[in-house]
Amino acid sequence: MSSENESKSLAIIHCSQVVTLAGPARPRVGAELRELGIIPNGGLLVRDGLIERAGTTAEISSLIDVNTMVVDACGRVVLPGFVDAHTHPVFAGTRVDEFEERSRGATYQEIAARGGGIQSTVNRTRAAGLNELTATCRRYADWFLRGGTTTVEAKSGYGLSLEDELKILRTIRQLDRETPLRYVPTFLGAHSVPPEYNSRRDEYVSLIVEEMLPRIAQEKLAEYCDVFCEEKVFTTDESWKILSAARCQGLGLRMHADQLSLSGGAKLAAELGTATADHLEHTDGEGIAALKQAGVQPVLLPGSVYALGSSRYPAAREMIDAGLAVVLATDFNPGSSPTPSMTMILSLAATHMKMTPAEAVTAATINGAYSLNRGAQLGSLERGKIADFVIHDCDNYRELAYFFGIQHPWQVYSEGKLSHGLRG
Ligand code: NIG
Ligand code: FE
Repeated sequence: MSSENESKSLAIIHCSQVVTLAGPARPRVGAELRELGIIPNGGLLVRDGLIERAGTTAEISSLIDVNTMVVDACGRVVLPGFVDAHTHPVFAGTRVDEFEERSRGATYQEIAARGGGIQSTVNRTRAAGLNELTATCRRYADWFLRGGTTTVEAKSGYGLSLEDELKILRTIRQLDRETPLRYVPTFLGAHSVPPEYNSRRDEYVSLIVEEMLPRIAQEKLAEYCDVFCEEKVFTTDESWKILSAARCQGLGLRMHADQLSLSGGAKLAAELGTATADHLEHTDGEGIAALKQAGVQPVLLPGSVYALGSSRYPAAREMIDAGLAVVLATDFNPGSSPTPSMTMILSLAATHMKMTPAEAVTAATINGAYSLNRGAQLGSLERGKIADFVIHDCDNYRELAYFFGIQHPWQVYSEGKLSHGLRG
């Protein structure tokens, strides 16, 4: 938006639906997941990058003056920008060769066992400099925005050495500064044990605890710490050590839990009281009850189930029925989930996890924001919140989950400024 417009307010009018997600100031559970606070024939007034008012077109029109820039949505739908609460968006190269191998029948675990998988991305990411990495990842920032995502949680984890993890976290900071996409950084040094530590994994855990975490906390390069807790990756004991040390350094906690097997991840997340437990494809009823008891938010990632060719989706309905504040995210990464598309995730959630479109939208916006400690600023269109919103080219929000494989957004706004799409 040009500087001459900066002092102006912005009004969006003639929206078939303004999906506000207005509601209690906490993550939504149970029937609340289906309450979207929709204003038919709605509008939005934005000032200084914040939501001033959501209301009917008549109400918003009455507030328009000569300093208001008006966008006619012509019957389209407005939603908060998606908050994608689990991504791995900084990596060099692709894994398209392995993708083809998997199309011929090889499995993700077989490829990883022979040094491919995460390690092949680590090798390439280590070889790339910060500027090269930033340039590569700007492309992905653009993909997220074009798909209607305005905030991503961004994990490191393809460096696995002090310097390379710092380089990735600095890349995330750089991308946050220079693109309209908002990044919430997470340190994932415990993504895999690098081969040089294969015979001395204790030393890698010590490196994370004694060197990486203090340095990252000191430079304020991450808000959260995550661990890939899984048989043959990081055991529950190792995960406990790393996450406990991260908590002492003042970081919030997240966890890859029970993705490929029931390995006690959800129970450990509950024991530690992490902000989230992510994946949970293999979590059982006991694990779900433990998450509920501890108030941990499940982050469900159906894109990785789909892209790995599995049919084992997480038990979203049981989790909703148990009262968990479910979150949906892409898990964007070059191996198990190469998609930045939150609307693809809405489609998978509705089709394979039997979440209604309304539940999926709540899980992809306000609940994601709360899982990142941003619930007071992001995830709904309520007075005083940051004006991150999207005008989607449809007249009913349910079409976002229904028509899949297309780009829905017509215009994307970050802090009240157009970041993608044509001017009205
Ligand atoms: O969330 N589970 C571990 N990490 C990623 C996969 C990363 C990769 O394959 O590069 C995930 O699925
Ligand atoms: Fe992941």
